[in-house]
Amino acid sequence: MKRIKISEVLKLTTFGDEICVMGWVRTKRISKNVAFVALNDGSTINNLQIVIEINPEIENILSRVNTGASLSVKGKTVESVGSGQKVELQCTDITVFGQANPDEYPLQPKRHSLEFLREIAHLRFRTNTFSAVFRIRHAMTFAIHKFFNDKGFCNIHTPIITGSDAEGAGEMFQVTSLDINNLPRTEDGKIDYSQDFFGKMTNLTVSGQLEGELAAMALSEVYTFGPTFRAENSNTARHLAEFWMIEPEMAFYDINDNMDLAEEMLQYLVKYALENCREDLEFLSKRREEEQKQKPQNERDDMSLIERLKFVVNNKFEKLTYTEAIEILKNSNANKKGQFAYPVNTWGTDLQSEHERYLVEKHFKKPVILTDYPKEIKAFYMKQNEDGKTVRAMDVLFPQIGEIIGGSQREEDYDKLVSRINELNIPEKDMWWYLETRKFGSVPHSGYGLGFERLVLFITGMSNIRDVIPFPRTPKNAEF
Ligand code: 4AD
Ligand code: MG
Repeated sequence: MKRIKISEVLKLTTFGDEICVMGWVRTKRISKNVAFVALNDGSTINNLQIVIEINPEIENILSRVNTGASLSVKGKTVESVGSGQKVELQCTDITVFGQANPDEYPLQPKRHSLEFLREIAHLRFRTNTFSAVFRIRHAMTFAIHKFFNDKGFCNIHTPIITGSDAEGAGEMFQVTSLDINNLPRTEDGKIDYSQDFFGKMTNLTVSGQLEGELAAMALSEVYTFGPTFRAENSNTARHLAEFWMIEPEMAFYDINDNMDLAEEMLQYLVKYALENCREDLEFLSKRREEEQKQKPQNERDDMSLIERLKFVVNNKFEKLTYTEAIEILKNSNANKKGQFAYPVNTWGTDLQSEHERYLVEKHFKKPVILTDYPKEIKAFYMKQNEDGKTVRAMDVLFPQIGEIIGGSQREEDYDKLVSRINELNIPEKDMWWYLETRKFGSVPHSGYGLGFERLVLFITGMSNIRDVIPFPRTPKNAEF
């Protein structure tokens, strides 16, 4: 008999058919001579109730049907009274694929802390919370490809191993096949990378942007969606050492076109989740409400998860310059009362996430796009403004998250780009291929990077980025 997924079974409106389902036991309850087993196969947040009449033959099998065990169950669908679902399965036959010893199985049918579940990330997929999060993560992956595909963008696979540092922050993981206990040296005592695998020093990419730009100079509108790596030692709830980034890059777009695309994309993705991930979102919304109740009154979020998502879909993003934002922050009561860990008093300093969140959550109460940042705090490739001080950067700031997107119009002028590279001591000879696009048919162009986990964090209402990627990589942690 062919297996049917539980998501399909729960949609049935006619009953009495013989079917087969397979999955993992969430709970077992025995009442008189009937056992009730809640079975889940990951196709939906909801369990299928299996009703088993106990007889001497089945008792032996039933003792192996515990939380965590995997089963194949045949039976007849019947209309359910009570149990929250319309349908349940009257069991005629059970096979236990794999047992889970109740004394050892770490996932008991009770609420476990997210911290504990991180330590058993190999099993946390089996909880309601994580299965919901990862179904939503999948839906967002699909929606991103759909969004760009429908617009005629071409997906480009950019390299993971590179010789360049796109962001110029020096936060790279080196890739080598040299024996690090016995490094070859040049005459002047430096490491001889000519003997390394690629004949030069290489690292894991921090961004696919530079290669994306090369493709955009022919295909016009492209996007990358790949893993990126940063050896930045920030142990926060919003940073990972390995994260996924979506980087569209568009020829003939200026900064305003870039902002419009970012806003349209984010609203599309949130709307997609609201329309396609309803049950999982409702579960996570309730979960979040309970989590909020544990917090002190003044730290609680006054919007439910679903309200917050709708809020992003229904409001135009607020656009202003960095300079205007600094004025708002400088004159804010929060700043005057010393409520920021990093007080705002000078133009030119980078914004911290507390400042970004203040602008979004307290001041404008909607997503914000900040533009025209000081060039000193942004990457070399951003288009320089006429004032000589700022660049055509844009950061999209979201409630709870802070920066969710970073991007800019790109410097398309060869001379200006070279002089910026030299100012920053970036080795010009390593960038020859990037610079050549400014020599041959250069055009105004723009792009941005969306941090995929920050998007999933926002959509799911989870509070730690480690809980929206299956196996997080963070300082001192690469388990699994
Ligand atoms: O602002 P970033 O560093 O921009 C770039 O990498 C550009 N090359 C993008 C572009 O213009 N094509 O990173 C972009 C986004 C951030 O806004 C943030 O959402 C996410 O990537 N991000 C991280 N997410 C998780 N962990 C980290 N350590 C992250 N660093 C950046
Ligand atoms: Mg950034």
